[in-house]
This record gives sequence, structure tokens and C-alpha cells, in this order.
Amino acid sequence: MLTDDFPGLVIQVDLRGLLIEPNSQGHTIEAAAGENWHQLVMATVNSGIGGLENLALIPGKIGAAPIQNIGAYGIELCDRFTSLQAMEVATGELHDFTKDDCGFAYRDSVFKGRLRDQYIITQVNLQLPQDWQPRVDYPALRQYISQHNWDANHPTPTQIAQAVTDIRSNKLPLPTEIPNAGSFFKNPVVDTDLYQSLKAEHPDLVAFAAGEDWKLAAGWLIDRAGWRGLRRSAVGVHERQALVLINPGRGAGRELVQLAQDIAADIHSKFGVSLEPEPRFYP
Ligand code: EPU
Repeated sequence: MLTDDFPGLVIQVDLRGLLIEPNSQGHTIEAAAGENWHQLVMATVNSGIGGLENLALIPGKIGAAPIQNIGAYGIELCDRFTSLQAMEVATGELHDFTKDDCGFAYRDSVFKGRLRDQYIITQVNLQLPQDWQPRVDYPALRQYISQHNWDANHPTPTQIAQAVTDIRSNKLPLPTEIPNAGSFFKNPVVDTDLYQSLKAEHPDLVAFAAGEDWKLAAGWLIDRAGWRGLRRSAVGVHERQALVLINPGRGAGRELVQLAQDIAADIHSKFGVSLEPEPRFYP
């Protein structure tokens, strides 16, 4: 996110081109970086091809998707990713990156860390599976499916895309209407000791097992600390999802950064949990 005016050249990647082809393992996708992510998801779903439906309605372009390994409702980009092509800024040379080269993790990749700002992604390649299985473990998704009396064991890609689209539309603000960058903080991972002491104090704490540790719902922590719906001049905390910081008054980026710092400090003092921002800051 921009914290101030950016004193440099900004390039909007607008490369176009999309190829979806059957192969022996399902379907391959070769997408130029400037294509719209949601349109790609719907192009596959509308052709009856499963694999991306849980990632419907995520704003932005395909080239941005690997940078933070976009994810939602139980699927991450890295689950479907095979490779990408990127231009090295220093030399103008094109390089291929395998999945291993990208160092994907939860909302993270090598392009946010060691190789930050060194490459411009030009093309992303995906593989969608032949033996597609619906992924509907996420509580909100299961609930939506049962409310609609759909077959919970055999929902179609179209039904899942519709469910995800409706759930997202109900709680996440549209960036074109209310400026925002989606979840502002990552869901923090804490050890069992801290999880157990928090759970004892707050029985309704929302947490998911993550290996030996626990991933906490940052939205729940921020909500419980009383920040949901708060407005501070131009910026604020979204009233339907406390993890989303918004800028409806078109305030300066630094106002949003200050709000984020105040929230993180409050969460640390109330729960002993450190929140880490999901977006990168510029300049
Ligand atoms: N919750 C509250 N109050 C709130 C917000 C959330 O109590 O104000 C509770 C919810 O009731 C729920 C839990 O916290 O029990 C989790 O909330 P939600 O299902 O909305 O998901 P999330 O963990 O807040 C993550 C991703 C989203 C993604 C959804 C669905 C991160 C940082 N965020 O949000 O991704 O869409 O799960 O998979 O992992 C994004 O990264 O920009 C993003 C929107």
C-alpha cells in the first residue's frame, strides 16, 4: 500500500492473453500477468472446470496473485501453481520460476522477501486437476451449502463459486466503492501454551490447528478488542470484517498506517499476540 506519494516510476502491467487447455492431468492455464483474476476463475468455472472456484472474487490481476500467494476458503494459489515467468528489473531478462523457486508460504513468497522489487511477473502457469474434489471444509462455506439445500458431498464448481462470491460480497467491501486492501493483518500463529491460556480466558476464541501450533483469527481478536466499525477521520475498521482496514475518506496512507500500528499495539497488550501486516508498504 502507498503510505505517501511515490517518488518514482509506476508501471501498470497490462499484458493480455489466456490459454486454457486440456492435458493428461486435467487442464493447464497460461495467463498473462495483466489478466483479471476473478475473470480467469469464472472462465474456468463456466467451462465446467474445477480447481479455482474457492478463489472467486479476489480483486486484482493474475500477476499479483503469486506475490502473496493469494488464498481463500481452503485453497491457496500454490495448490494450483506450476511456474511463472518474470522480468528481472536490473537486466530486462526474462526468467522462469518453478514452484520451489517461489518459496510459497501463507500469504508469502520469495517476491515479498529475498527478491522483493527485483522482478516483474509477466506470466503465470497453473494446473487444474482431472480428479477435482470440492473443498468445502471452511465453516462459512459448509453453512452456506446446507442453507441452500445443496448436496454437501457433491457441490459443483459453479455452486462453490457462487457461495464464495456471496459470502465475500456480504462481508468484504468492494475496493472500487470503499478503498481497502483486503485483510490488513495475517492470521497470527501462536504456540500451544499461549493458545491454551487465551482459550481459557476467552472460550469463544476462533483458532485452527496449524501443525503443532495454532492459527488465530486476527479478525476475532480485533473485533473482541472493540475496533470493529471504528472510524478515525478518513480511515477506519470495516464494520462487517474487523480484519479489513478501510479508507472511505481518501485519507493519507500514513493515517491508515498509524491506525494499523495502534490496533497491533492494543492487540499485543490485550492478548500478548503480535500482528503482522499482509500488504507491503511503499515508498
Ligand atoms: N471474525 C470475527 N469478527 C470479525 C471478523 C472475523 O469474530 O470482525 C471471526 C469470524 O466469525 C470467523 C473468524 O473470525 O469465525 C475468521 O473470519 P473469516 O472467515 O472472515 O476469515 P479470516 O480469517 O478473517 C481469511 C483470509 C481472507 C479470506 C478468508 C476466507 C487472512 C489474513 N485472511 O480471513 O483473505 O478471504 O480467510 O478464506 O488469511 C485477504 O487475505 O485479503 C483475505 C480477504
